Parts: sequence; structure tokens; C-alpha cells
Amino acid sequence: MSEAKRLAAEKAIEYVQKGMIVGVGTGSTVAYFIEALARIKDQIEGAVSSSEQSTAQLRSHGIEVLDLNHTGGLSLYVDGADECDPHKNLIKGGGAALTREKIIAEASRQFVCIVDPSKQVQVLGRFPLPVEVIPMARSLVAREIVALTGGQPVWRDGVVTDNGNLILDVHNLSITDPVKLEQQLNQIPGVVTVGLFARRPADVVIVGGQPPQVL
Ligand code: 5RP
Repeated sequence: MSEAKRLAAEKAIEYVQKGMIVGVGTGSTVAYFIEALARIKDQIEGAVSSSEQSTAQLRSHGIEVLDLNHTGGLSLYVDGADECDPHKNLIKGGGAALTREKIIAEASRQFVCIVDPSKQVQVLGRFPLPVEVIPMARSLVAREIVALTGGQPVWRDGVVTDNGNLILDVHNLSITDPVKLEQQLNQIPGVVTVGLFARRPADVVIVGGQPPQVL
């Protein structure tokens, strides 16, 4: 699948315009995008990064990483996903970067999501849904998720997010109303971010292949 990821990432470069500050996601697909961005780094003003991992890769290429508080809204955000449905709703957070990813997606006029074909599903939920939680609320949130969804939250042991929080991965969901579930989970005290991107889905999905498919 890595060739499909690379092809999706290369296609996304067509959305980058001269003078832009580019929002950059996290993950192995985005890593290909950063490599492609490095080739045209003289044409962009810099990047806003969604993780320490992407920041390190961007800086290793001499791409300036800027603070979202200083840039204001962005024209473009490019990121991967763990699952994508036909309405461009996403599950994200496999790399535990969901909170900063959701912030940058919200701040951006256009969200281009780059995936390989294995990420396409009819109904979200086969991939366990990541939820970032405040550490002291881990058990409380897990109990409330069971009561609300019937899904099974599993603590991603050993993982601490860039924000110092924990991740619960919720298994056995079939998410037929992602906007509603995103809102309901967001209401639980202790939940920082739900890895459902439905209230603000992707605008464009690029599925890597020969040729890439633009949805
Ligand atoms: C990180 C993410 C990633 O976009 C998602 O996990 C996809 O990763 P990859 O491109 O490695 O398949 O949401 O939090």
C-alpha cells in the first residue's frame, strides 16, 4: 500500500499554491507528502504542523514550522485518515495526533485527505475509533462510552499524546450517524477529542492509485 500512499501524496501537491502556509497532518501517507513538499519548499511560506513527528520531518527539510496562533486561518490542510466513508467523513487518530489534526482541519478552508484504497469503507467503525482523554478521566470515559455506544474501549497502553493525554480505541462500532456520535462523545467530561471527522469532514479525498482518484 505504500506506493498507493505515495501516489496520493504526490497528487495532493497540485493543491499547493505559491505563497501558501500549508497545514500538514501526521502519518505515513503524510510523510510522503512532506517529502514532495520539500521539493517545492521555496514556493511556500511555511507549514503549520499537527505533531512533533511531522514538525521534525518538516524542519529536517528546512521548511519553517509556524504557530497557528500567528498564521490565522489556512487555505489548505493535507492529512491522511484511517477510514473514509462515501460522504468524506473520516476516522483519524491512528497516530494519536487527532487533536491537533482536528484543530488545523477546522482552521483550514480546504481539507484534502490522502488515502490508499484500503481506507475506503461504506460505514465507519471497522477501524477502532480513537478518543483522546484527560488521564484522570480514562476509566470514567471508558464506562460512559460503553453505556452510550455498546462499543469496547481499549486503552492504548504506553501511548501519551503530544498534549500529555491518553488514547482509548473504541472497537466494535458501526457508525451510521457519524455527526451525531461525534457530538455525543464530545459531551463526555474528560474527552479532549473524538477521532471522528464528520462535523468537519474532508473536502477532497485523493485515493492513491494509477491514476489517483479524486473524490
Ligand atoms: C494520525 C492520523 C493518520 O492520518 C492516520 O492514522 C493515517 O495514517 P497513515 O497515513 O500512516 O495510514 O490520523 O493521527
